[in-house]
Amino acid sequence: MAARCHALIAERGWGFWAVESKVGGTFIGFVGLHIPRAELPFFPCVEIGWRLALTHWGKGLATEAAKGVLRVGFQTLRLEEIVSFTAVGNTRSRKVMLRLGMVEDKATFEHPDIPSGHPLREHALYRLSRRKWTEKT
Ligand SMILES: CC(C)(COP(=O)(O)OP(=O)(O)OC[C@H]1O[C@@H](n2cnc3c(N)ncnc32)[C@H](O)[C@@H]1OP(=O)(O)O)[C@@H](O)C(=O)NCCC(=O)NCCS
Repeated sequence: MAARCHALIAERGWGFWAVESKVGGTFIGFVGLHIPRAELPFFPCVEIGWRLALTHWGKGLATEAAKGVLRVGFQTLRLEEIVSFTAVGNTRSRKVMLRLGMVEDKATFEHPDIPSGHPLREHALYRLSRRKWTEKT
């Protein structure tokens, strides 16, 4: 996965970036921007995503890193909108989206990569426009 992230960053100049702890510079996960699969019902889009090592949850680090990523996405890349999505039961991820000021779409969607009937198939979608982000920053 790291090799794939490296390749996409080399190609586009942006992607899922490594997150390092400010204490000691340890690699603790990734947060960044990605163009997801075209089969998603809201494609084309750019998503913000994250994954941190379990021992670094509950410290505000994902939200801190994600705020920096939004700044790059809206100010540097001039994206009109950034989306994020996760399984409806992923409360921690959804709380990060809300802390970033993202707005939940009324309708959920079925993730095409997850088999029908699987408990993780139903996903919630959140969106943030550059206009809204600019207003609140
Ligand atoms: C999603 C994920 C990154 C969220 O991590 P997280 O630690 O809950 O999120 P944050 O880094 O924003 O931390 C927020 C928590 O830290 C707490 N916190 C503690 N100290 C804090 C501080 N100094 N500043 C801010 N928040 C602090 C907050 O109160 C909050 O806790 P709460 O949710 O219990 O209220 C993490 O759960 C993860 O990596 N999951 C696996 C991968 C995944 O599901 N990715 C999404 C797939 S689509």
